[in-house]
Amino acid sequence: MNKGKTILVTGGAGYIGSHTVVELMNAGYSVVILDNFSNTSKEVYASLLSLLPSEPILFEGSVLDYNLLDLIFKAHKIDAVIHFAAFKAVGESVENPLMYYENNITGLIRLLAMMEDNEVKKIVFSSSCTVYGIPENEICVSESTPLGIPNSPYGQTKQMGEQIIQDFCKSNDIEAVLLRYFNPVGAHESAKIGELPNGVPNNILPFITQTAFGEREELKVFGNDYDTKDGTCVRDFIHVVDVAEAHVKALEVEQKSENPLILNLGTGKGSSVLELITAFEDANGIKINWSFADRRQGDVPAILANPEKAEKILNWKTKRTITDAVRDAWNWEKYRMENEMD
Ligand code: UD1
Repeated sequence: MNKGKTILVTGGAGYIGSHTVVELMNAGYSVVILDNFSNTSKEVYASLLSLLPSEPILFEGSVLDYNLLDLIFKAHKIDAVIHFAAFKAVGESVENPLMYYENNITGLIRLLAMMEDNEVKKIVFSSSCTVYGIPENEICVSESTPLGIPNSPYGQTKQMGEQIIQDFCKSNDIEAVLLRYFNPVGAHESAKIGELPNGVPNNILPFITQTAFGEREELKVFGNDYDTKDGTCVRDFIHVVDVAEAHVKALEVEQKSENPLILNLGTGKGSSVLELITAFEDANGIKINWSFADRRQGDVPAILANPEKAEKILNWKTKRTITDAVRDAWNWEKYRMENEMD
């Protein structure tokens, strides 16, 4: 796909979305953002703007708002869509499944219908390694590994979203790339954008940085009796800027015969929760106050990506390490606290 085209980025003010907007605009794309600021803030958006070569067009609202979607697609010639806007808290999805199905599934359907009406031919969709469920034989999963049972309504929405797009591709001449993220962590190396979770963080690295800052008293490490190298869960932590770069490549990739194109985004390396904490402590020279707690319900003991397909097809490779991620996350935490972003 040529530069100079316009990309609609839903959730473009959010965590992965904002980092992707930086990469898109630096690559010469024009960007239209649709975001309802449900899991980010105006301060983060202002900070994002300071990183961009020019100002994107922002529409504040929800992907559920059909009239707003109609207005956006009529007002702008959209060449492709990157669809990030979704809820992503596993525990919350168990407590409020309808909210998740409505936002993540109905929102996707409205967007696809709008693309069809306006002849937009490409979508990149945020999927997740949660679609693999608990890997049965091998903790390192490739795209051909059979799907498992997702551990939550959130996970179900990702699996269903993939299925909806698969079916849609069969009845339309639309191209889709489904990116299965493993565990995106870190922040932009400028420290000006990063993850800003609502309330108490669910994800591990924001909890670590908030504990380091003293905003949280103690990190609880969920489970120490898993069948892993040190008894804690193992994940494939991937730097968010590597994830963002893959989206630009996904827009531009020649899909040939595979549609939708399904790709794992991970590093291929597994780190335990304790290894992540140690990496943070070593990189930043700060001790984290932590203790063990019971296992968290629904946690997968260990999973990591086989990223070979994405590397080959996208001509992409992760460039950043877990040390880069924990350093960047900490610099972002300090920046956001100093600038009172919340
Ligand atoms: C899960 C999904 C991922 C999804 C993400 C969205 C899986 C395998 N992964 O990530 O696809 O995109 O949710 O939020 O289903 N932990 C602690 N203490 C804490 C927080 C976390 O010990 O305070 C541990 C967890 O038990 C887990 C690891 O840290 O072992 C990572 O947890 P988290 O950051 O929440 O991500 P996942 O649950 O792996």
